[in-house]
Amino acid sequence: MISCGSTTGSERRYDRGEMELLEAIRTTRAMRRLDPSRDVTDADIETILFAATKAPSARNEQPVRWVVARDREVRLRLGEIYQQVSGSQAPMAAPDRSTGKLARSVDHLVHHLADAPVLIVASAYGTDDVRTAAGVYPAVQNLLLAARSLGLGTTLTSRHRLAMAETRAVLGIPDEVSIYAVVPVGYPLGRWGEAPRQPVSEVAYRDRWGAPFIAGGD
Ligand SMILES: Cc1cc2nc3c(=O)[nH]c(=O)nc-3n(C[C@H](O)[C@H](O)[C@H](O)COP(=O)(O)O)c2cc1C
Repeated sequence: MISCGSTTGSERRYDRGEMELLEAIRTTRAMRRLDPSRDVTDADIETILFAATKAPSARNEQPVRWVVARDREVRLRLGEIYQQVSGSQAPMAAPDRSTGKLARSVDHLVHHLADAPVLIVASAYGTDDVRTAAGVYPAVQNLLLAARSLGLGTTLTSRHRLAMAETRAVLGIPDEVSIYAVVPVGYPLGRWGEAPRQPVSEVAYRDRWGAPFIAGGD
């Protein structure tokens, strides 16, 4: 069991210590609409960073460093960079219902990143390559799950990577440290729900590529 705060809306309410890990995994998804008027405590930030530090890394090198941006001026500058780089992103294709919803949600964050009470920047020492990234993103995922368990919404964003030098300058991050993600953290305005994902039988195979893995009667 990991600890958890209350959910919003009419859903089941969890008290701290009640949420099971698999339930947190099931309902952790990008929560881009966050309540700007409700602050997040330092104690909760420390808890989710603690969870992040427990992630694996190659040779246990633990290359990840976190910058917790709370200062409004700093958040505004990160928000401006996010908006600038987002302007250069290709628009989302296929405006069907689900992608239309996603596009609106993504667009909301583009204009409101700085409204999140906390922005957590995940960075790491080492060459900006797959091996280092593979040591960063498990830690980020731990952080997202721990936040969920406390009732805090998050989104993994990566667009500051397109303006690495500018983002480093805002935060005083040294040149030998690469930025991998910026995670807004706050109490969600929307409801928690199950993340829509492909079923296991479509993405996992038994013994041989293409043969769906379906659990037997064991
Ligand atoms: C590597 C990576 C980069 C991402 N970058 C962004 C981003 O820059 N902005 C954003 O709003 N969401 C970003 N996301 C979040 C994805 O859009 C989100 O996980 C996906 O659409 C599933 O959404 P859901 O969890 O709400 O179902 C990123 C996710 C990953 C794994």
